[in-house]
Amino acid sequence: MLKSKILELLFSSESSVSGEEIANRAGVSRNAVWKAVRELREEGFSITASTNKGYEVSKENKRLCAEQIRTMEPRLSPVCFETVDSTNKIAKEMALQGAEEYKLVVARTQSAGRGRLGRKFFSYNGGLYLSLVLRPKIKPQDTILITTAAAVAAAEAIERFSKRKAQIKWVNDIYVDNKKVCGILTEGAFDAESGELQSVVLGVGINMLKCDFPEEIRDIADGLLDEKSLTSQQIAELIVDFCKSFMELYVNLEAREFIRLYRERSWLTGKTVEYIKDGLSKKGKVLGIDDNAALVVESEGEELHLTSGEVTINHKYE
Ligand code: BTN
Repeated sequence: MLKSKILELLFSSESSVSGEEIANRAGVSRNAVWKAVRELREEGFSITASTNKGYEVSKENKRLCAEQIRTMEPRLSPVCFETVDSTNKIAKEMALQGAEEYKLVVARTQSAGRGRLGRKFFSYNGGLYLSLVLRPKIKPQDTILITTAAAVAAAEAIERFSKRKAQIKWVNDIYVDNKKVCGILTEGAFDAESGELQSVVLGVGINMLKCDFPEEIRDIADGLLDEKSLTSQQIAELIVDFCKSFMELYVNLEAREFIRLYRERSWLTGKTVEYIKDGLSKKGKVLGIDDNAALVVESEGEELHLTSGEVTINHKYE
């Protein structure tokens, strides 16, 4: 608690904070402050102390912490971990226990990252894994609007972070230079009696750094930057940029204004794709995205609006 209070005071202050002021505000002795600062340094926080001025925290730490994120966006209620099994799993448990909207779970690696359709999500040290708890007042069938708004926000944030053009592969993958750099998994919890949405957990995994991807995804996955590591400030900025962009779209979700932005970034439009219908593999040409974020495909003279599932590109049609 004391360490968190110290981080909060240091991150929210423009200048140094004296040991005496921290001690007074936290209701502890100056010696307790000194010991807590020493522990924080051991944990990877770069905190300088000068005799006349007091303590100052660098924004470029090895460790990312909740206080650094919250100072940049106070609507968020973050918890940060180095490693977890899955941030979505943790956020879902927190939501069940009553976590408020915008509770945010962040991790630097995941041992059991979850992808769509029951797949694993490769979660290496060089990626960013976050899950946001939402309490939307929407119909269950409109959950796709959360996923698609998140895809727009992720593409925008990734583009600003990497200075590379980001596109969206329907429904929720972000592509840069024709390779996947980010995946999104939205999971809802429903009230058993009313069938109403109780909470939604929005999970986003971003491959921030290049890496030696496992054989099975090497051809389709990529990382954004060539750097070997990132500072806590760079990571916090990406998190906050994504969350702010998302929240702006989310508060006005049902107006569907973001669909225009989604269309502009649609990677599949104009491409020939394969999809599964009634258990059969079919192919068709993607005409675009409709107002409900469904994929519009022309196949055998018919126009279909796909609302779920997965479509794949077969390069022999290109
Ligand atoms: C996909 O591409 O299939 C979706 C991947 C979603 C991965 C994110 S990483 C953060 C959150 N926690 C998880 O276990 N999964 C999501």
